[in-house]
Amino acid sequence: MEAILQVKGLRKFYGKLEALQGIDFEVRKGEIFALIGPNGAGKTTTLRVIATLLSPSDGEVRFNGFDLKKNPEKFRERISYLPEEAGAYRNLKGLDYLKFMARFYANSRQEVETFIQRAVSIADLGERIKEKIGTYSKGMVRKLLLGRALMTSPQLAILDEPTSGLDVINALEVREIIKKFAAGGLSVLLSSHNMLEIEFLSHRVALINKGQILDAGSPEELKAKYQASNLEEVFRRALR
Ligand SMILES: Nc1ncnc2c1ncn2[C@@H]1O[C@H](COP(=O)(O)OP(=O)(O)OP(=O)(O)O)[C@@H](O)[C@H]1O
Ligand SMILES: [Mg+2]
Repeated sequence: MEAILQVKGLRKFYGKLEALQGIDFEVRKGEIFALIGPNGAGKTTTLRVIATLLSPSDGEVRFNGFDLKKNPEKFRERISYLPEEAGAYRNLKGLDYLKFMARFYANSRQEVETFIQRAVSIADLGERIKEKIGTYSKGMVRKLLLGRALMTSPQLAILDEPTSGLDVINALEVREIIKKFAAGGLSVLLSSHNMLEIEFLSHRVALINKGQILDAGSPEELKAKYQASNLEEVFRRALR
């Protein structure tokens, strides 16, 4: 299948620290691709570079064939990004936040309505959508922000730890939303350190550690290759 995103030899220095030491992977159309690895592995750094929020020190990133350095606007137009520690304006009501964002991204009045409706349906907060975000639980904020990230029908959604800190039910709901949109053609690049959860969510995964990709493939391929019964075991064996 054709790649929508290609990352080659990506490096990122923070001062002297080489957080990414030459990362290679690609994401295909309609695919859920996960970067999995421990704290500090370089997941967020990789995602922020692709979301054009951080400039790379070296390497090549292509989205729909466009180069990140030459055409960053092509990335911004069709990629949406859900940050790891995303907060939303606590004093705004959920619905007003979505309206504000829809007006910011839409090109017509019609589109504003479409975006708001889509986001409200994804967030699925019922009447609480009319209350202030400051009164929401973590799971509710996460779903609101997921609604915001997906309302523009991006080609690629970059989701940094989309289910972290969520309870079983909310995590399940978020995973179902991600799967549903991917089935509709959305490509998803996400990160997680919950390797067991990711096994059931992702078509392919890349194992990342200390700024390097240890291996990549479908969970089935990797489990067979490392003779492991789950991705945690795969990761432990790939580290050796
Ligand atoms: N703004 C920054 N300035 C300096 N160092 C940074 C900065 N951001 C990240 N780092 C360092 O770069 C490395 C990779 O961090 P990154 O946040 O990409 O990891 P991560 O895989 O997302 O980890 P986590 O699972 O904890 O979210 C770490 O050593 C981190 O301390
Ligand atoms: Mg991170």
